[in-house]
Amino acid sequence: MSKTPKLLILYYSQTGNTEKMAKAIEEGAKSVSGVNVELRYFARPEELVEADGIILGMPTYHHDMGMDMKRLLEEVAIKKINLKGKIGATFGSYGWSGEAPRMLLEIMKNRFEMETIEPPLLAKYSPDQKSLEECRKLGKTLAERIRKKV
Ligand SMILES: Cc1cc2nc3c(=O)[nH]c(=O)nc-3n(C[C@H](O)[C@H](O)[C@H](O)COP(=O)(O)O)c2cc1C
Repeated sequence: MSKTPKLLILYYSQTGNTEKMAKAIEEGAKSVSGVNVELRYFARPEELVEADGIILGMPTYHHDMGMDMKRLLEEVAIKKINLKGKIGATFGSYGWSGEAPRMLLEIMKNRFEMETIEPPLLAKYSPDQKSLEECRKLGKTLAERIRKKV
């Protein structure tokens, strides 16, 4: 029997805007049957290996991503955890510059050689209905892609 494909949505949110996006992505992904979808606030580097698709959510603060995410990615690199070929996407709420999801996607693509879906999904402050719909669509697209692949 083939294994159930797994989609990990890992995010950080300080004031809840990126969290709203994360939940809409989860909802979209869960509309696809036969995919194990996990919404998480924290993950160990080794847990990333178990996922076939990884969506990282990060708001931009001070033109940067959060320390926990940076640390996680550094550990993945140091421990030589292989993410090559996994499908990746990023998202995040922002106020005026929105670098964090772009930086994350760059790292996924260039450092970990993941298959990335571009561009990152950004929402200015609190995501409106249109943004949330795009989030659901992203979740669904990723889930369908990993289901086809595994
Ligand atoms: C102290 C502070 C610094 C911020 N720095 C940036 C920034 O550099 N670039 C940007 O686009 N938005 C910036 N923002 C806006 C946040 O990204 C925005 O409020 C976002 O919706 C927060 O997402 P969250 O609710 O998921 O935490 C900043 C907000 C605060 C409070």
